Amino acid sequence: MRLVILDDYDKASEWAAKYVRNRILKFKPGPDNFFVLGLPTGSTPLGTYRKLIEFHKNGELSFRYVKTFNMDEYVGMPREHPESYHSFMWDNFFKHIDIDPANAHILDGNAPDLVKECDAFERKILDAGGIELFLGGIGPDGHIAFNEPGSSLISRTRVKTLAHDTILANARFFDGDLTQVPTQALTVGVGTVMDAKEVMIMITGAHKAYALHKAIEGGVNHMWTVSAFQQHRQTIFVCDEDATLELKVKTVKYFKGLMNLHNKLVETYIDE
Ligand code: GLP
Repeated sequence: MRLVILDDYDKASEWAAKYVRNRILKFKPGPDNFFVLGLPTGSTPLGTYRKLIEFHKNGELSFRYVKTFNMDEYVGMPREHPESYHSFMWDNFFKHIDIDPANAHILDGNAPDLVKECDAFERKILDAGGIELFLGGIGPDGHIAFNEPGSSLISRTRVKTLAHDTILANARFFDGDLTQVPTQALTVGVGTVMDAKEVMIMITGAHKAYALHKAIEGGVNHMWTVSAFQQHRQTIFVCDEDATLELKVKTVKYFKGLMNLHNKLVETYIDE
């Protein structure tokens, strides 16, 4: 596991975006070799998306041969609703880059058969060759995607009922009105994300400090589903200083001592 600690949200976002850029460039995607990227929604990845858009606009990065799979979507919310994850992804990312819309996969929370929709999503990921890099964020209760506390750590894409904590946290997007927050979502499972070759989880802000502590210093525990990634071969946690407030000094010092190495991963990529 890597833990990359940056001064603040902007620096963490920039680091994450550079890492994604370099991973895609090194992969050398082409018509027969698509880079498969898993993506989250939420306020945390916004800065990373902004930077990736910048890299696209200045000609450093193309998404022509990238396929994306989003982590989750609300059930029963019209696709064009401003808070649907479809709207979020198109407004904040996809419409600003050169991805082929057919390659941007988002679960359909209005599908007539939700179980079929989830099974088909898993199949599409397999057909694409599996996910090369899955980006994720977490809720303050340590959930990844919508894998709420108590979710199976080997779960697959399915319908989930949202925890009250998540409804409270997401009410800010619905004018604070709890009754407007959907109560169900389709979400990839913890197992779906665990199958990715590499996972990068972004955690910023003091309100997520306890979750970061549970994620990396507590044991693997289905009440903090993000802790499952302790058992993933290649996981990078990218966080800001505020998110480290509940970590042991020893943990922070160790990982900060590795920053020189970590920063090499985001240096401007030069094709050899
Ligand atoms: C929702 C999403 C998660 C996301 C979380 C945190 O619960 N399903 O995928 O990580 O919100 O959102 P934010 O980044 O806004 O704190």
